[in-house]
Amino acid sequence: MCGIFGLITKEKDLPVARLIREGLERLEYRGYDSAGIAMVNKGHIEVRKKAGRIADINKDGWLDSTPGTFGVAHTRWATHGKPVYNNAHPHVDCTGKIALVHNGIIENYQDLRKELAMRGHAFQSDTDTEVFPHLIEEFMGKGFDLKDSVMEAVKRCKGAYGIVVIHADNPDYMVVARKESPLVIGIIPGKTTFCASDIPAFLPLTREAIVLDDNEIAVLRPGEVEIYRVKSGERIQNNHFQVNYSIDAAQKVLDGKAYKWFMHKELHEVPRKIRDQMSMTQDRLDSFAQAILDADHVFITAAGTAFYAALAGKFQMTRFGGPYIQAILCSEFIDAVPEMKPNSLVIAVSQSGETADTIEAVRYAREKFGAKICSIVNVVGSSLTRYSDEVIITTAGPEIAVASQKAYCTQITAMSLVALRIAELSHKYDPAQIEAFRKALLDTADVIDHLIIEEGKIREIGLKIAHADNIYFLARGLGQAASLEGALKLKEIAYIHTEAYAAGESKHGPIALIEEGFPIVFVAIPDQTYDRLIGNIMEMKSRGGMIISVVADYDSKVTEISDYTIRIPIANSPEAIAMAAVPFAFVLQTMAYFIADSKGLDPDKPRNLAKSVTVK
Ligand code: F6R
Repeated sequence: MCGIFGLITKEKDLPVARLIREGLERLEYRGYDSAGIAMVNKGHIEVRKKAGRIADINKDGWLDSTPGTFGVAHTRWATHGKPVYNNAHPHVDCTGKIALVHNGIIENYQDLRKELAMRGHAFQSDTDTEVFPHLIEEFMGKGFDLKDSVMEAVKRCKGAYGIVVIHADNPDYMVVARKESPLVIGIIPGKTTFCASDIPAFLPLTREAIVLDDNEIAVLRPGEVEIYRVKSGERIQNNHFQVNYSIDAAQKVLDGKAYKWFMHKELHEVPRKIRDQMSMTQDRLDSFAQAILDADHVFITAAGTAFYAALAGKFQMTRFGGPYIQAILCSEFIDAVPEMKPNSLVIAVSQSGETADTIEAVRYAREKFGAKICSIVNVVGSSLTRYSDEVIITTAGPEIAVASQKAYCTQITAMSLVALRIAELSHKYDPAQIEAFRKALLDTADVIDHLIIEEGKIREIGLKIAHADNIYFLARGLGQAASLEGALKLKEIAYIHTEAYAAGESKHGPIALIEEGFPIVFVAIPDQTYDRLIGNIMEMKSRGGMIISVVADYDSKVTEISDYTIRIPIANSPEAIAMAAVPFAFVLQTMAYFIADSKGLDPDKPRNLAKSVTVK
């Protein structure tokens, strides 16, 4: 939610405003309602901002030509206040000397605003953010320098923030601070410093990074960073690290091939990401699996796509000898679980590691009931990793398309590996059997390679339902995770109303809508649910439903009763069937992508959405 990019440099002749705008564009997946830049220019602040997308705002190079030596920019996902000029960031104080950008939500902004207004501050926007520059202005008026004023201002604010502040009279530094909203620093030592909401934003410029922790504040000078704790004011050591992501992560290029959309490129990365996930270390798996086996009560929680991955993961972990795992949406967790028994464990699944509801659920479980937290998370150093006892990092790498897809595939792969480790530790399967399952899991990467080669067939079938108003997705058992994911993808990027139901449940209501030509997608994994699913297909078919089924390549029974099939080239073995969750979902993600593209929509930045949902 909201992207921030700042740059300060010693290098003469760098096109600073253009580099800031380019960095900001790499963060546009975080929000795209409005954007703006502020630069320090010869003792004053130059602000340019507008509603709309960066490319439109920068038509004729308006943002790129902002005069000044250093600055910061922001792309917004509106929370407080409509996406209009006044609410766009950066925001300034009454003197116009302080400019600030913010990602997060200040919960006590109404009280602060009243208080500041009573003391004569004039507000220009409806945002929660605007209290920040005015608070900083007050502390500076009391004689504090910029860093100490920011430090005092953040102490007054409740909620989440990643902020960057510049001041017209401070020509050689800017100040950043964070709490529960991401902010990372990139550095070219001795020359240039960047700050951004995520690492890929500065990846084309440097690979040296520093992650700012919660309740820390940093002074950024060209090629130098000083970090302080907000509470004590004590200076702390910088932990630099080299980022090993491929530079391609931030670009629509894969293996030298240019893609029209990040989503398409990222779908094509799935096979290699699965292979990377398969080579994760045994130690990580051991302690994660053992923690699950040692707990008396196990929950799994997540939001959106990550929740659907969690459903597949839970299914696998229980099936391979783990305990029963209760899945609860993170936004419902606190209300659904008023009490937790001792020795409870929560598995949290998240791509960003910053989803506010997920963080709230794990903090509640950990701080109130002492529950252990095991996380599956894609972003190293994200907030969720800091609240977790055990962490498995998924190997999806930066995911730029707003709708998650490769992260989903690696999350399920990671949890399937945990499931197989549980099987080993609990001695419920013999080692040769477990090895066969592991090989089948690895083979899913080859299966998806084939699906990519033949993706034109998926597109063809997608086009048959591209103009439907409503589509059902039905499945049973493990297939449900794929069905829910397929329905969500189509809803969010192609704007088609979809509903995913447990197939057995469809006759308890949803069937009332079926009439001639109503499309229904069935996920027909050939496991123990297959014959029962055929019954559900027949119920829909006999009422005129158009049946689109995702089936194994060797399928005949479901094929006979379907109008169209998408065929998955898995082996005809119990192991391949047990590990088929990812390929069956992958084709539905791909189909949604092709439908969105065919309708001329932007699958990377669907309307009203943002990649990292840091509001509750
Ligand atoms: C859908 C999608 C979202 C996220 C959800 C959780 O395509 O991307 O539903 O899965 O917002 O986000 P993370 O995984 O970052 O916690």
